[in-house]
Amino acid sequence: MIYLDNAATSFPKPPEVAEAITDLLTHRAGNPGRSGHSLALAAEAVVAETRRLLAALLGIQDPARLAFTLNATDALNLAMWGLLRAGDRVVTTSMEHNAVARPLFALAERGVDVVRLPSASDGTLDLDDLERELRAAPTRLVVMTHASNVCGTILPIRAAAELAHRHGALILVDAAQTAGVLPIDVQEQSIDLLAIAGHKGLLGPTGTGGLYVAPGVRLTPMRQGGTGARSEQLSQPEEMPDALESGTVNTVGIAGLGAALRVLQATGIGAVRARESALTARLLAGLREIGGVTVYGPVEPSQRVAVVSVTLRGWEPVDVQAALDSAFGIAVRAGLHCAPLAHRTLGTFPLGTVRLAPGYSTTDDQIDQTLAALRELTLSAS
Ligand SMILES: Cc1ncc(COP(=O)(O)O)c(C=O)c1O
Repeated sequence: MIYLDNAATSFPKPPEVAEAITDLLTHRAGNPGRSGHSLALAAEAVVAETRRLLAALLGIQDPARLAFTLNATDALNLAMWGLLRAGDRVVTTSMEHNAVARPLFALAERGVDVVRLPSASDGTLDLDDLERELRAAPTRLVVMTHASNVCGTILPIRAAAELAHRHGALILVDAAQTAGVLPIDVQEQSIDLLAIAGHKGLLGPTGTGGLYVAPGVRLTPMRQGGTGARSEQLSQPEEMPDALESGTVNTVGIAGLGAALRVLQATGIGAVRARESALTARLLAGLREIGGVTVYGPVEPSQRVAVVSVTLRGWEPVDVQAALDSAFGIAVRAGLHCAPLAHRTLGTFPLGTVRLAPGYSTTDDQIDQTLAALRELTLSAS
């Protein structure tokens, strides 16, 4: 199987991930932060170490500002529902995943004013448009993806954060597609709220994610419950991460994520980025040679992560996915990729695209085999 669906979830995971999960379940499976016995303390140490590694990777000075979540969607919901109230104004883009678009749609029904900036047809955003909207009315929050999950376009997070702050707004960055594959530093990039998935570029298991909340930003928790601390009080603790981490965390997943982070640390984000850019450049160059293929997103590999969307003349995306899977053993995703607004922006709504998303361990030969398969499909349609 050639796996080109890393934008959905990364595969294969480093072997260390399964080893760490087995080790946790075999030797350290107490409840972290609850009981004081050695098994609970061992589990707590695993959770604390993963939090520390994640904080180090993302430029977070105080690891306590990072709460573990179920996935990126959970983190985005905690941030938006925790911050926004009726009458607040939010500026967002037309490239967002439903993990942003649906909570904002629901919040708009409860009186939040949501302004959606139209992105260009390659997914890029004009910062003048953002500035114009921020000038137009007081804004509580700018929400934007760091990179599109449909066509890979990287958005200018740092510049957007500066604009947001200049106009008194906070910024929430959806880093589902970038954590682990692009350098992120919440201090240097002035990010107030950062949502990440643990199971994509960070190479961890599903059921893991995180939300960074900058010092001074207070979210109303969506859930209340046991945190293992301040048990005498009925009100939810205000300190991070307890404020957002009610109930037993996913110790098993967090152990796996910790192992993945150690692998990433040893590899280096720079090496991951260089490898994925080279694979993307090879893919884009090969696609350009095939008649009947339309490629979406920026032409320059440096302006995108390793997420490439295409359509094939004479083929519906879902049929290309099925043919690649059954005849060539190539796993890709077809359709709207949970981002209908992005497809309206690219002009690929409602059928969507075929998404090719290589990962760090994809080989040049696998890219070439995929190109050959796509060439064969285009020829069979003509
Ligand atoms: C840009 C973007 N945001 C959010 C999500 C949601 O991530 P998760 O499945 O971890 O909730 C995804 C997942 O595909 C994504 O690509």
